[in-house]
Amino acid sequence: MTAVKRTTAAGAGSSSVANTSVSGLMRNIADTGRDPSRGGYTRSVFSTAENDLRTWFLEQAQRRGLDTETDRNGILWAWWDTPSGDRKDAVVTGSHLDSVPGGGAFDGPLGVSSALIAVDILRERGLSPAKPVALAVFPEEEGSRFGVACLGSRLLTGAIDPDKARNLRDPDGTTFADAATAAGLDPRYMGHDPETLNRMGAFIELHVEQGRGLIDLNEPLAVGSSILGHGRWRLTVRGQGNHAGTTLMEDRHDPMVAAAGIIRAVRDCALRYVGARATVGRIVPVPGGTNVIASAVDLWLDVRHADDAVTAAVVENIHVAAVAAAAAEGCTMLLAEESLSPTVHFDPGLRSRLGELLPSAPILDTGAGHDAGVLAGVVPTAMLFVRNPTGVSHSPEEHVEDGDAELGAKALAEVVEGLVGMP
Ligand code: GLV
Ligand code: MN
Ligand code: MN
Repeated sequence: MTAVKRTTAAGAGSSSVANTSVSGLMRNIADTGRDPSRGGYTRSVFSTAENDLRTWFLEQAQRRGLDTETDRNGILWAWWDTPSGDRKDAVVTGSHLDSVPGGGAFDGPLGVSSALIAVDILRERGLSPAKPVALAVFPEEEGSRFGVACLGSRLLTGAIDPDKARNLRDPDGTTFADAATAAGLDPRYMGHDPETLNRMGAFIELHVEQGRGLIDLNEPLAVGSSILGHGRWRLTVRGQGNHAGTTLMEDRHDPMVAAAGIIRAVRDCALRYVGARATVGRIVPVPGGTNVIASAVDLWLDVRHADDAVTAAVVENIHVAAVAAAAAEGCTMLLAEESLSPTVHFDPGLRSRLGELLPSAPILDTGAGHDAGVLAGVVPTAMLFVRNPTGVSHSPEEHVEDGDAELGAKALAEVVEGLVGMP
């Protein structure tokens, strides 16, 4: 397979490192992808902003003398090789650089910056790793542009059919294949990549915590235990497009009114199951005009629960309620699954090793999805969470204090050092 692009490294031992702190790196990219209308950052995959961040990562890695490459699924890799140059059993760490619309600064980039700084810390300690260390950046983790979260890691692991991935469309109708081509990739080569997976011995993703777990524990850092099962569904309600002024209220088949009923039903169905979360965060009326009764409405549903059977039950209840809400308005409703990920428990052996390396870190689960969750099916995988003092994420209010960010990178360096020394 020839679709791996190599980028020449600046040379081992290159010490022209611009920033040796996580907060310094985060400041480096603080102006990239700012969203003046929504607030926060909009860095959708293969947009100018995300492409700039991908280039920034490759440059930072090369400044550190790492050997960079882009694999056939658009995942960026930066290698700290052993003298043998054998890329086997690598300790891999990284995250993503794309964001939700109007997202926070830390979701993704904190893990990437911390990975770069962990390399600096280990270099300063004079570590000469017995196993390769690799940094990885996964594209379209959020699924904000093409709908399917963790698209890069799903392609890598074979969890999505590459044809389905290539044909996913963004809201403007651009296919993932075309967007990837514009970003310099060859989509013909996308898909399951056992060769790359065989290089990985373990994957550790450091991430900003996206809830209140660490605030409540009054701790700066946790080791991840599990990720809630979650999925996304598209609900399409069809009615009768018509004129807002001439159509009497009793003559309407208005899918927006049905959608309002569906959104209430989503909340009510989730409330019937302890621990369930169900959200409609995106709704698109067609054609979408102030003086137009919509002919159709698309709603996107996100459902999560620790028990996959409960997730299925919540979605089934929502389905029944949505059909009824649509029928009450003389509309029809179709529900289609876009992605589904089961609850993931991270590798117990790796988790207990992290517990030994970071004895004061509590264990925490998360309701947020991550590439680590997809990779956990094929590679021993673990996560570290860094305190977010607002407890808010997928919002400009997401935050990490500088001190916690540096502490997170140090913890990541401990973990990488501990794992590369392992037989
Ligand atoms: C990604 O952050 C998700 O949990 O949807
Ligand atoms: Mn993330
Ligand atoms: Mn996210």
